[in-house]
Amino acid sequence: MGNLQEQAETTQQGGSGTISAAERYGVLEMPELAYTDEVAKETAPLYEHVRHHIPEIEWPVHAPYIHAINKLKKERNAVILAHNYQTPEIFHCVADFAGDSLQLAKEAEKVDADIIIQCGVHFMAETSKLLSPEKTVLIPDMKAGCSLAESITGEDIELLRQANPGVPVVTYVNTSADVKAASDICCTSSNAVRVVESFESDTVFLIPDEFLAQNVAKQTKKKILTWKGHCEVHERFTAEELLAYKEADPSIQIVAHPECPPSVVAVADFSGSTSSMIDYAKSQKSGAKVMLVTECSMASNIEQEAKGVEFIKPCNLCPHMKRITLPKILDSLVYMKEEVLVDPEVVVKARRAVERMVNLKTN
Ligand code: 13P
Ligand code: SF4
Repeated sequence: MGNLQEQAETTQQGGSGTISAAERYGVLEMPELAYTDEVAKETAPLYEHVRHHIPEIEWPVHAPYIHAINKLKKERNAVILAHNYQTPEIFHCVADFAGDSLQLAKEAEKVDADIIIQCGVHFMAETSKLLSPEKTVLIPDMKAGCSLAESITGEDIELLRQANPGVPVVTYVNTSADVKAASDICCTSSNAVRVVESFESDTVFLIPDEFLAQNVAKQTKKKILTWKGHCEVHERFTAEELLAYKEADPSIQIVAHPECPPSVVAVADFSGSTSSMIDYAKSQKSGAKVMLVTECSMASNIEQEAKGVEFIKPCNLCPHMKRITLPKILDSLVYMKEEVLVDPEVVVKARRAVERMVNLKTN
């Protein structure tokens, strides 16, 4: 992960100038973090959303951070964009907007604020910066990476193009700005089939997620060429473990993310982006049993709203998503760190690839 830090430092030097976000906005004093009567009263409604996951005895630890973050984000004119894999106290108590990768990208483009605090991983913060270059984009932990994003470089794509002239390159949004800049268009798990089909060509690269590409290949007549990147969270699920649950209780509905191996998606009742998995679970009748085959926080985040649905959780943790915590979000707001910048030469091309996706009529 050291390379992300180096990359950030390099892009900051070659980025929008030498004035840091801390210098532009000023650094504040760290607020008092006591569980006062005022904090208890103001955070009580938020606790109702997370009481299933945070025992009452632990709330006094979280509440002062939540209170301070919500106050400071107003003072700073900042918004918090959180991915669906963030922990319940982030998802429910401090996020202004939570969603899947495509929804976060769209929100970053239209949100009215000076500062975006990206509660997710580095490629998501970079995507926000590409779509909102005039805004200050901060990530609470610069080391929040992604195994898919790290599996491929812009140079790899140039080599693929040389070996396969004329074949369009679709890259999953879980990639660095360099990789996006070298591609024709981006996609997310919610629009990958439509993006691939938007090309005339019979053959299309869909990289770097091999499993997503194989899952998409089953839904289109296009020949899909891919890469050997995998999500370290979803690659660990196996059809055998899921079928063992189903054997024990055939009424369980398996809902799998398309970053899972095709053998896993094949035994699922539904597969889609994190937000469509959430919609699917919420649309089930009371008494339904739903197994979300994805990152652990998803089920925790929607359990309360999906009334009467029983969640079975064979979850895997994303260590990168879990780097984002309330204390680090508060540090971001107080000290204006860590700023995500993208080399201006890369911005233009990378932004074009993301905008093509966001503007695709079928989104
Ligand atoms: P989506 O939220 O776009 O489905 O992506 C899942 C993921 O793994 C993001 O890191
Ligand atoms: Fe990357 Fe997988 Fe973590 Fe998403 S869940 S950030 S794809 S490692």
